[in-house]
Amino acid sequence: KVFDVVVVGSCMTDLVSQAPRLPKAGETIHGHKFFIGFGGKGANQCIQAARLGVKTAMVCKVGKDFFGDNYIQNFKDNGVHTEFVKQSSDAATGAASITVDDAGENAIVIVAGANMLLGAEELQEALPAISHTKVLVCQLEIRPQTSLQAMCMAHDNKVKTIFNPAPAIPDLDPDFYRVSDVFCCNESEAELLTGTSVASVEEAHRAGQELLKRGCGSVIVTLGPQGCVVLKGGESTLKHVPAPVVTAVDTTGAGDSFIGALAFYMANHPHMPLEEMARRANLVAGVSVQDIGTQTSFPYRRDLPNEYFQE
Ligand code: RIB
Ligand code: NA
Repeated sequence: KVFDVVVVGSCMTDLVSQAPRLPKAGETIHGHKFFIGFGGKGANQCIQAARLGVKTAMVCKVGKDFFGDNYIQNFKDNGVHTEFVKQSSDAATGAASITVDDAGENAIVIVAGANMLLGAEELQEALPAISHTKVLVCQLEIRPQTSLQAMCMAHDNKVKTIFNPAPAIPDLDPDFYRVSDVFCCNESEAELLTGTSVASVEEAHRAGQELLKRGCGSVIVTLGPQGCVVLKGGESTLKHVPAPVVTAVDTTGAGDSFIGALAFYMANHPHMPLEEMARRANLVAGVSVQDIGTQTSFPYRRDLPNEYFQE
């Protein structure tokens, strides 16, 4: 295989304000810190996988602007292959306005910009990478049809797929389930997709069973500090993987750290049980929540204990 992990997805410039709490509608509040960072769910997941030590490529579109130029350099700095990172003068690089409160919770508005211009033509160019990777990862910050097409290309070539339906949309094309080897969502995405409440481990398990029925190979529903539940096709036992107990400073991108780590384990340790991959991915994401920022808080292999990388 040419690559271990290929991500077809989004890049965003994160404009982050830290404030004591999230503002209400019509309200202005004082924050205490502002910073700009590299974000976007697709890129975040790719960078986390790369930092754990696998060969990655990103398929995405940024603007022909300062933020786009900077983003390409960021991929290079992280060892991500950039041949399929395209620049367009028809739209600006995607941006995310993020507010993080003192409890580490966040609220985000994204303006996808150039991300929405990624389409069939770029996928065709990237086909050699998409069809010759160990793992392909997609999300929903680009046009859903582009994500689905990439997932189908991978699936047709027997490439393992991870689908992260984030941010969730109510009318998700049912074909997404069919081409997902691992369908990984958080509690609110699971709620939107199943129309049921997902607040506890039991409810997550029930929602996971419903998603599994729709045709995916396995389902992971993440529950923040409650860890995640893992469901495999053909098995009915409840597998709850608890999360490490940590003090969260900024949970932005924790889900992306989890997915990036999961992709790393699927590529590098394909025979490891999925719940063990999820357990280790929880540990990696647990490191990311203890620092501010998104990619700035994602750990490198050298920051983590050796046993995270043993069979
Ligand atoms: O998942 C976190 C990411 O969501 C942020 O980096 C922001 O860019 C938004 O896309
Ligand atoms: Na963080």
